[in-house]
Amino acid sequence: MSAFKEPVVIHKGLDNVYVKESRICFIDGEASKLFYRGYSIEDLADRSTFEETAYLLIFGWLPTSTQLQKFKDQLESYRPLDPDALRLIRSFPTHSDPMDVLRTAVSALGLYDPQPMSDDIDVRRDKGLRILAKVLTIITAFDRFRNHKEPLPPKPGLGHAADFLYMLTGKEPDVSDAHAMDVALILHAEHEMNASTFACTVTASTLADMYSILTSGIGTLRGPLHGGANEVALRTVLEVGDASRAESYVVEALAHKKKIMGFGHRVYKSWDPRYLIIKKLGGELAAKKGQTKLFDTAVAIEMSARKHLEGTTIFPNVDSYSGVLFHILGIQTDLFTPIFAMSRIAGWTAHSIEYLQANRLIRPKALYVGTIGTPYLASELRIGKAEEEKE
Ligand SMILES: CC(C)(COP(=O)(O)OP(=O)(O)OC[C@H]1O[C@@H](n2cnc3c(N)ncnc32)[C@H](O)[C@@H]1OP(=O)(O)O)[C@@H](O)C(=O)NCCC(=O)NCCS
Repeated sequence: MSAFKEPVVIHKGLDNVYVKESRICFIDGEASKLFYRGYSIEDLADRSTFEETAYLLIFGWLPTSTQLQKFKDQLESYRPLDPDALRLIRSFPTHSDPMDVLRTAVSALGLYDPQPMSDDIDVRRDKGLRILAKVLTIITAFDRFRNHKEPLPPKPGLGHAADFLYMLTGKEPDVSDAHAMDVALILHAEHEMNASTFACTVTASTLADMYSILTSGIGTLRGPLHGGANEVALRTVLEVGDASRAESYVVEALAHKKKIMGFGHRVYKSWDPRYLIIKKLGGELAAKKGQTKLFDTAVAIEMSARKHLEGTTIFPNVDSYSGVLFHILGIQTDLFTPIFAMSRIAGWTAHSIEYLQANRLIRPKALYVGTIGTPYLASELRIGKAEEEKE
């Protein structure tokens, strides 16, 4: 008996499937263009701040000076963690991967919220903002615990990026470090309906709470096909070690059908506009900090890969230099993906709220290709699958 009467189209990987209308982000992958709410990524990286960009994504418009100050004050007031939540993070094994810590801690934040569930969009948005703010404190507290240091409370007056670097290192960052971190956060804040944003949207569509929604996003970002490419890209640069070895590395990698990390993208079939911004920023910071060897090695790998991949649609993406930039900022490699999450919570919150304003439960279908009407046998009459195969 056939389960289907009509031909069915399977959209494996959901390529080119649209799940909603959106006013949040537009990517033109052929023309190397990225817009958040209509504003070009170049303008935002050049003129905005992470807080202003997060406001734009989540509320839908650029804030006035008064609105922005209020928003910054609000995030600042949300940054401290409940002492019980801090104790919980302290109890985690110090060898834990920071992404696992972040996923568990964001989920646990819901336990300290007396009313995690709410149907009210404003309340939901506010919970998203609380999580956005607290994630800085979670990541830095865990990093300090695992390095046998006490966590630092947030420092009033510092912006999102600067406070993150301060709580991580114990030193207030200088203007150029804080700026580099801020721009990196802007570049990672949003990227349309990618895997983690879709995961958040699916969870939102069930009317689950914001803690569950954002935990879904973190869990999905964790996989190496999504977040994490910048960690591998940096490790490659460190292993290659010198610009003179870049060409032989690339030739050998491509000969063995290995992918060059920081290259290629599902949507961009030309330059990733974020790559151009982060490369320039990384180069400036490397020169200022005298870390040109690392940067030059990354450039040599890029140039060699571009030469060998010429004529394809495989171009450098943001990850080719984001890991290099974070490394120059003195950040440990396993914190790169949590930093990505720390920024992307803005986009996840924006998309979940947008979806909920015209909600429909997401419930796709699977094409059943198994048997139907199989006779049920008592257990003593069954032959285990493996035994059956042996006969
Ligand atoms: C991002 C990525 C998953 C996009 O994948 P995709 O659009 O599904 O493309 P595919 O992985 O199917 O690759 C298509 C072809 O291009 C090749 N290719 C893709 N990215 C490549 C890379 N970085 N280096 C070398 N070859 C690459 C694949 O080997 C494949 O070749 P084939 O057709 O001969 O088998 C892929 O480019 C990749 O893994 N890049 C490296 C990781 C990375 O930088 N990720 C961060 C993205 S922001």
